[in-house]
Amino acid sequence: MCGIVGYAGHRPAVPLVVEELHRLEYRGYDSAGVACVQQGAFRVVKAEGKLNALEMKLSTEPPATATTGMGHTRWATHGAPCERNAHPHLSNSAKLALVHNGIIENYLEIKNELTAKGYVFHSETDTEVLVNLIEDCHKSEPDLMKAFSMALCKAHGAYAICLMSIEEPDVFYAARMSAPLILGVGTGENFVASDIPAFLPYTRRVVFLENGEMARVDKSSFRVCRIADLSPVEHSIETIEWDVQSAQKGGYRHFMLKEIFEQPDILRDSMTGRVSASRDSVRLHELDDFPVPARLTIVACGTSSHAGMWGRHILESMARVPVQVEIASEYRYKERLLFSKDEMVLVISQSGETADTLAALRRARECGAAVIGLCNVVGSSIAREADRVLYTQAGPEISVASTKAMCSQMLVLTLMALYWGARKGTVSGGEIAAVVQDILSLPEMLHKELPGMHEKAKMLSRKYSQAKNFFYLGRGHCYPLALEGALKLKELSYIHAEGYAAGEMKHGPIALVDSVFPAFAICPDDALLPKVKSNIVEVQARQGKVIALTNPGVDLPAEDVWVVPKVNSLMAGFVILPALQLFSYEMADYLGKDVDQPRNLAKSVTVE
Ligand code: M6R
Repeated sequence: MCGIVGYAGHRPAVPLVVEELHRLEYRGYDSAGVACVQQGAFRVVKAEGKLNALEMKLSTEPPATATTGMGHTRWATHGAPCERNAHPHLSNSAKLALVHNGIIENYLEIKNELTAKGYVFHSETDTEVLVNLIEDCHKSEPDLMKAFSMALCKAHGAYAICLMSIEEPDVFYAARMSAPLILGVGTGENFVASDIPAFLPYTRRVVFLENGEMARVDKSSFRVCRIADLSPVEHSIETIEWDVQSAQKGGYRHFMLKEIFEQPDILRDSMTGRVSASRDSVRLHELDDFPVPARLTIVACGTSSHAGMWGRHILESMARVPVQVEIASEYRYKERLLFSKDEMVLVISQSGETADTLAALRRARECGAAVIGLCNVVGSSIAREADRVLYTQAGPEISVASTKAMCSQMLVLTLMALYWGARKGTVSGGEIAAVVQDILSLPEMLHKELPGMHEKAKMLSRKYSQAKNFFYLGRGHCYPLALEGALKLKELSYIHAEGYAAGEMKHGPIALVDSVFPAFAICPDDALLPKVKSNIVEVQARQGKVIALTNPGVDLPAEDVWVVPKVNSLMAGFVILPALQLFSYEMADYLGKDVDQPRNLAKSVTVE
């Protein structure tokens, strides 16, 4: 997730902008850059890698005296993470400079049009296309605000943007569509940033730009209007009470909680550009020149392997591709890896650096299998070594416990199932449209439901905090979710927990159940509900207390019934998952554990 900052004021802009970028480092990035207008021309300095590389470069230049400037930390989406692709990008005339977070979906189409008009491009980015589109509009429209709006009306996708022009060196323009952008209102100085911590030491007064809005900002004023018709918008200025550290957590107590609450937006953002306008087909261009596998082996560790197990259900039912899921640390040492014709391997890893998963990838490739990587971190080892890579676009996950990454992995696995299913003819356009509709309805519903789910999790965690053991039970696609619920409880609260296929309980584990060994049963209102209900009764018959996570209208004989909205089909997992995460989060927080950095664990397990 890129970080954007813009400044217009009375202080030297470049060092201030770099300082602001440091406060956005938590967002993750692979290159950085700054721009200001100095003696009638843009001065742009960019560097691959971390901000100290940019600072080294700046230290070799004469100091810039400009008091307006902008900066960017880039998390690569289009094009490799390198200096050429780093922001800011200049237009062909070098009169405009742009920093951008997001994806312009129709950038190739626009690029072709601009190329035909003689524009040349020096990077692989959609951002360079956009700055030249603004320049092109500015040729016929002298008012830059209007030209900016004309260009944005042509560009589809998600973006947060800061634009500068040599014609107005003390002004910056900003625009927002489905990506965060906030104005900071100071005294004799104004700011814009992707997140509040960037400018918090200078001002606590903020204006939250809404989707579809743009602004013209100088040191003493700002004007906000709608992109579509330039009609003015009045916003009230709000005052932020957080300190920088809690602002980075978006006001949440922990990164984990923030990341759980980010999931609705991740679902929405991850769909951007991957579904056709008619919503009855899925675009995964990364796989267009790859055959649909005859069989698929999914290899991963921890939470990513649970996402893979969940994905197996949807891949088998929609794409009719037989799937087996293997734990990477086992798979890498299998004596013989046998691949049939057109069999493929899919490795899943949030970090893209997990040693076992990387070794499994290498082993599979050595044995002749084609490998697809499903990663969150752009340019990571797995992303680089796989034959093809799909990115989850969850943004950096800071909490050691993986939450939003799993949600985004499940989403991409669903898109893969629909994409391959369409290519094989096992799903119709109508069936794809129905699933897409289910997914698209999730963000709004989850935004509404998550606060109430959080309260319920809080209440239940207090009641069950004395437990030393927990079973998590589920069937079908809820079995991998039960495994994930148990993993989350273990790693965060250090309470022993086991996930079981509910029907397997009677084959041994039920011997452990007594009045102090509770079970968390996942029982959505689907075809397997009567079966899970019987398993709950079996636990209760042994005095075991049960928390049953279910849907409205379901009558269950449980000690505690937790009702979440019903979602059709396998997409129910996207509502069940945050409930499990919130329960573990609350349990750990209540028990005073280090939620974001549990003992003995590392975010990226790069050793065997
Ligand atoms: O980065 P990866 O997805 O490859 O990481 C895999 C596991 O190490 C990771 O999911 C781990 O299990 C988390 N701590 C779970 O919360």
